[in-house]
Amino acid sequence: MAKDQSDYFRTKQVWSKTKDGILGCYFAPYFSKVIPFSKDGIVYVDAFAGTDVFEDGEPGSPLIALSELRGAMSKQRQRSPIKIILAEKDDSIRAKLESVVRKSAGGTGYLQGDRICFADSFENAMTLSSQAELRTGRQPSTFFYYIDPYGIKDFRLSLVAGSPVPGHTEMLLNFSSSGFIRDARAALKVALTEQDENVMWSVAFAEDVPTTTRVERLNEAIGSDGWIELVIAYGRNEMTHRQLEIEVSALLCRNAQSYYRYVTNMPIRDVSVRREDNGAIKYRLVHMTNNHDGCVLVNDNMIKRNRDTQVIQQQLFLVDIDGNDIDSDTISSAMRKSVMTLPLNKPVSMWAILADVIAEVGVFDKSTAVLKTYLGPLIEEGLVERVEKFTPKTGKPKNTYSGPKTMVYRAK
Ligand SMILES: C[S@@+](CC[C@H](N)C(=O)[O-])C[C@H]1O[C@@H](n2cnc3c(N)ncnc32)[C@H](O)[C@@H]1O
Repeated sequence: MAKDQSDYFRTKQVWSKTKDGILGCYFAPYFSKVIPFSKDGIVYVDAFAGTDVFEDGEPGSPLIALSELRGAMSKQRQRSPIKIILAEKDDSIRAKLESVVRKSAGGTGYLQGDRICFADSFENAMTLSSQAELRTGRQPSTFFYYIDPYGIKDFRLSLVAGSPVPGHTEMLLNFSSSGFIRDARAALKVALTEQDENVMWSVAFAEDVPTTTRVERLNEAIGSDGWIELVIAYGRNEMTHRQLEIEVSALLCRNAQSYYRYVTNMPIRDVSVRREDNGAIKYRLVHMTNNHDGCVLVNDNMIKRNRDTQVIQQQLFLVDIDGNDIDSDTISSAMRKSVMTLPLNKPVSMWAILADVIAEVGVFDKSTAVLKTYLGPLIEEGLVERVEKFTPKTGKPKNTYSGPKTMVYRAK
């Protein structure tokens, strides 16, 4: 049963704080990275903005983004113009949000007037973002979308394709995987074979929505009809709810890869329940980008947040962010494959090679550890060479695997 939404903004739940930690920690490096390169401006959209501050004092997503943006702007000599678009359907929540956000913007020049605007639906926010012009006659350089709906009802995957500059667009989506499964079971009349307590805030379709419409809306949400056979298999007890949740999320990510080269995701868990299972999955945070640095930064951020707040049982073997075993041979061959797609002798950053591995294998370890363990042997073998082979100060061979700026090339 979905809960009354008026309760949503009472207390920020622990798992939402895990997600906010990722937002906060990602926005700082993200804005710092894009500001200098976005001469024609940055458009930031929070398509389901919610409130300014929860009743327990925790900031909502618009204030988190605004605070990180201002921090990043204050450190830049050259500032790009910015437009912030916040969409909220509920009139009274939106009015309060507008008053607090405008007050918080204060006299900051780059946040005046229509540089912050408010929309009453995500559709209108998307239209505003596609029409945004921050320098006369020029299309904005960079777009970021944060999409955090209550469930599936208001989401469709084509939303993520809606940017005028796909190469400079990033998207963070809270995908209500359990809500999707609940709605999919209802559409196909597949009974629940396991208790699912994770759909509290996910709004289902109204009772009178006919089956064909439900199926179409679910197809649009996830981007294909591939979910139907998965849910039928679940109904036949051929997979557990946990497996179904992983498969449905993987399907969404595969479909999103039609628009974005690097799609990563992590489960956001309530670790106060089902501790033997490492908690219950509330939703998936899905990151989409065509930029390799963005992919690796989010990977590292997801690993850190997961280890800090979500892992109950330490694993002895190599596991991905879902706790599933992964085989190191699979990672070795993904790394080799990524290297072999490079042209000979053309320098690239280590992160460019790594992002393809993460997109293929998923999130499982920090960037430095993965590069050391899996790119290191390819350097030793001579397949890959460092551009800078020695440390200038000491003259010793370089052995760093950190940072996006370490350049290498395929040597044979
Ligand atoms: C999950 S809450 C957002 C929480 C917020 N992003 C945060 O992290 O603090 C979803 C919000 O979307 C709003 N909403 C629902 N349908 C909408 C729509 N079609 N367009 C815009 N906002 C909508 C709801 O009123 C609610 O405030």
